[in-house]
Amino acid sequence: MRYVMKGGNPLAGEVTISGAKNAALGILAAAIMSDETVIIENLPDVRDVAVMLEAFREIGVLVDRSERHRVKINAANIFTACADNPSIKKIRAGYYLLGALLGKYRHAEVSMPGGCNIGNRPIDQHLKGFRMLGAVHENNNSRVILDAKELKGAHIFLDMASVGATINLMLAAVLAKGNTTIENAAKEPHIVDVANMLNSMGAKIKGAGMDTIRITGVERLHGTEYAIIPDQIEAGTFMMAAAVTRGDVTVRPIIPTHMDAISAKLMEMGCEIIEQGDSIRVVGRPALYSCNVKTQPYPGFPTDMQPQMGVALSLAEGVGTITESIFENRFKYVDELSKMGADTEVKGSVAIFKSSGPLKAAELVAPDLRAGAALVLAGLAAEGVTVLDGVDYVLRGYEDFDEKLRGLGAEIILTDSEEDVAQSKLRIG
Ligand code: UD1
Repeated sequence: MRYVMKGGNPLAGEVTISGAKNAALGILAAAIMSDETVIIENLPDVRDVAVMLEAFREIGVLVDRSERHRVKINAANIFTACADNPSIKKIRAGYYLLGALLGKYRHAEVSMPGGCNIGNRPIDQHLKGFRMLGAVHENNNSRVILDAKELKGAHIFLDMASVGATINLMLAAVLAKGNTTIENAAKEPHIVDVANMLNSMGAKIKGAGMDTIRITGVERLHGTEYAIIPDQIEAGTFMMAAAVTRGDVTVRPIIPTHMDAISAKLMEMGCEIIEQGDSIRVVGRPALYSCNVKTQPYPGFPTDMQPQMGVALSLAEGVGTITESIFENRFKYVDELSKMGADTEVKGSVAIFKSSGPLKAAELVAPDLRAGAALVLAGLAAEGVTVLDGVDYVLRGYEDFDEKLRGLGAEIILTDSEEDVAQSKLRIG
């Protein structure tokens, strides 16, 4: 799939933010841990969610998604704890099935996680925690197999504040015997959301959102009805879209505190930020000023907003830097920005952006999900018609991205064949 877009329009208006993809994936995994029906609301309609639900169906979970943003799940009749269909290999969060199935059935077999190629992405911390809870683990044909006679609470210290490991270990520990402590836990908004959801099912989790999470195991989890939080990264992407197109965009609904790191940087770059209730309005200015950014675990600047920030810095006056401290392979979009005339350079984990005037349209390829979204922003800020290939990545994590952008005045078309691309160029060129 490709986007064909013509840059130059300042985006303006209000955009509705969907449920958080990364929270949804953890919450869906939690939902299969009960034998009772679980209803999840504000579910984003993105490909990663569809893949997860597909994997559920294949192991016997009843999935009723008759409404686009609401799913009813009943996992009383799961007939295998082995989730190894080809689709689950494609998404990173397939690994949450390890924690969920191990917790519920004391056995789990899941294909090794895929997802974006943004670095080495090991899961040693997940496995260390599972072992401490009493599981033995083996790898077989790129499948992770976990087995436990019983799961017993443990004191787990994570070597790094891993989002995936924190959620996975919470999932397993809520049905373990006794008390578990996860130290150096990740604090991202979706950790708190998954914990709240599990607690609404009868789990006993305290401290989610802080460095130390304490869990008291329970016998079973019951059904629940739960609404997912708004997507911090989707909202941040639209905020950045306002900045790079010198527009005026309101994102709603959002939880303002989740956006603090992003809002702070946008203000430093000269944008006006107006917070009101469950919305933030970003008013772009004719000139953007450079700044220095370092990605960090929450509440620091999110690595998932790093490429979008790279686009903003390549349009800003002065010299700006981004230090990527979470994933080692997250600057692949920089080569694409160079094709648009950006003056950028990557030295190890630091990218340097120098002012180089307006970006120019180019033929681009999305290297991964967030980089793909960032290159859309670049295309919308550039002079001329840009074609972005590899848009399937973007569809994994953004619901109706092109439609939402059009609602703000962007000229962007989602298209497939070469012929369509030519037609689309004619339509908007
Ligand atoms: C999740 C998000 C992803 C986001 C990232 C950081 C999902 C589905 N994905 O990814 O969008 O970019 O958090 O906010 O929610 N690490 C290890 N060993 C482990 C686990 C992690 O070395 O066992 C390292 C990773 O290589 C990385 C760092 O820890 O350098 C953080 O990774 P982690 O927080 O686990 O990211 P993911 O859960 O993969």
